Amino acid sequence: MSYKLLFVCLGNICRSPAAENIMNYLIEQNGQTLGDRIICDSAGTSSYHIGSPPDRRMTAAALQKLGIKLRGHARQFQKSDFQDFDLILAMDRENYDDILSLDLTGQYQHKVHLMCDFCSQHTLKEVPDPYYGGSEGFNQVIELLLDACGGLLQYVCNQEVTRESL
Ligand code: 4NP
Repeated sequence: MSYKLLFVCLGNICRSPAAENIMNYLIEQNGQTLGDRIICDSAGTSSYHIGSPPDRRMTAAALQKLGIKLRGHARQFQKSDFQDFDLILAMDRENYDDILSLDLTGQYQHKVHLMCDFCSQHTLKEVPDPYYGGSEGFNQVIELLLDACGGLLQYVCNQEVTRESL
């Protein structure tokens, strides 16, 4: 059985592809067995950048700070994602509200969380949109996501143990 995570921001070219790739990086560091069981993807609430690779400034920050190459192409969040994923991680409150506005009956609300709720070292409640700012904003996104992805990995591993013992 696999556990499926979807990271969501506005454009799917900065924060959510960074989150997806950092999560895969942490999973790989933990060994192959986790990689088979935790599946990561990302999407944007907007259609602005469909098909585009990650923003080069985000790519540069990930390479410089973690030595990882960001992979993927932007796609838009769609209603079927509610069924297809176990957890949906919104980067900021606006993303969170936009996602939930598509869940007309509220039946998937329990799957949608703010990414920063999984941080243990940072107190920011949202991952700030770095798009119109300088390189420091992109570095901050990496730091925040590293913290949140670490907490998320722990959470998912605990959930898996619970599921298996049910
Ligand atoms: P992201 O960043 O949501 O982290 O991918 C943005 C990308 C594009 C735009 C805004 C934020 N935009 O306005 O085009």
